[in-house]
Amino acid sequence: MTTIIDGKKLGLEIKEEIKAEVENLKNLNYGIPSLATILVGNNPASEIYVHLKHKACEECGINSLIYRLPDTITGEELLEKISELNADKNTHGILVQMPLPNHINPAKIMDTIAYLKDVDGFNPVNSGKLMNNDEILAPCTPKGVIYMLEKYNVRIEGSNVVIINHSPIVGKPLALMLLSRNATVTVCHVFTKNLKEHTLRADILISAVGKPNLITEDMVKDGAVVVDVGISRINGKISGDVDFENVKDKSSLITPVPGGAGPMTVAMLLKNTVNAFKMQMKK
Ligand code: GUN
Repeated sequence: MTTIIDGKKLGLEIKEEIKAEVENLKNLNYGIPSLATILVGNNPASEIYVHLKHKACEECGINSLIYRLPDTITGEELLEKISELNADKNTHGILVQMPLPNHINPAKIMDTIAYLKDVDGFNPVNSGKLMNNDEILAPCTPKGVIYMLEKYNVRIEGSNVVIINHSPIVGKPLALMLLSRNATVTVCHVFTKNLKEHTLRADILISAVGKPNLITEDMVKDGAVVVDVGISRINGKISGDVDFENVKDKSSLITPVPGGAGPMTVAMLLKNTVNAFKMQMKK
């Protein structure tokens, strides 16, 4: 029997918890967490993600402000905006939606966001903390994947986990988080030779590529746990990386797209925003 992981339901549960926590902080006169999101240009996918994040904040009572900047903005101008938000006591979380236009160096942006406000967990201080198993501001997508696996009691320790993605947003931090839970981790990417050789060994297979039907039935071990973090749009229909209908019966647990990893990323952003707020309260 295959279990389909219900990311939507888990996301709603987390939202309820966050809503209660925000209400409690407010009643204790600690104030209200506030998230500033910077959206540069008008990438249609980024527009959707930012809208979903903003809506989720509002549903939980978190203040959410979106700063829309044109894609002609210079790196220096963007850094100035971030410095302004870093200094603003009423802003507790700062998120710069990726990707950025090619002329802006994302590493410089991540370096500049104050680490206590870095709700994406991309600042080098927070990436460094992840090395030491401190996940308080860990990147949202990996954090959401781990949350789902743990909620569904998937055994991570000793498992062969294959991740297809080596970005700083998903693959690299996820590999660290799995290693700290004693998994044997293989990280594959576009230069990997014979992908199938790797995927067939996976007890837990995590794909985050954005290529529909990349993962077919013949690439999956019987009984594997399959987590689909990919997202693409074909003819207006949202699709993951996994050929869901055919892979489903081969796996023991599988995430759908939509309704799997996506809502978890948003839920983890809410958690990180409250974590950032509480850390700043203590300063
Ligand atoms: N673009 C795709 N995923 C993410 C994410 O988790 N955070 C940000 N800031 N941009 C993204």
